[in-house]
Amino acid sequence: MDAPLPVALPPPGHVLGPFADIAEGTAGVFEFREGHLRVEIFVLRHLGGVVGYVNDCPHRHLPLDGMPGRFLTREGTLIQCVNHGAKFRIEDGVCIDGPCLGSGLTPVAVAVVDGLVVLAAPPRRLSRR
Ligand code: FES
Repeated sequence: MDAPLPVALPPPGHVLGPFADIAEGTAGVFEFREGHLRVEIFVLRHLGGVVGYVNDCPHRHLPLDGMPGRFLTREGTLIQCVNHGAKFRIEDGVCIDGPCLGSGLTPVAVAVVDGLVVLAAPPRRLSRR
């Protein structure tokens, strides 16, 4: 059984990168470390804005992407885990199909400010189960 893995994200306003670097339907992936612990988040460009989640599938707690930055179904309408096919709504990260039906991705608040993607949530501890 995995113990919680607390990793602090940088404070709000932390710049992740240029919005223009994330094409519609693709994601930027960002890693944060705290000692030997790490957390990876992905930021999807979606409907002209951005949504962010921890790259940790609630089914087996594996990264969702098989190829870096590839998180969406072929149609580009859902997030899909490469491991066992769970599908999640882009807008809220809820699993609507697959082995973790009804559970959800851990959201990370992000925003676009002056053409840059930034963290928008207050600093908090994330638990990885
Ligand atoms: S680890 Fe994602 S569906 Fe199994």
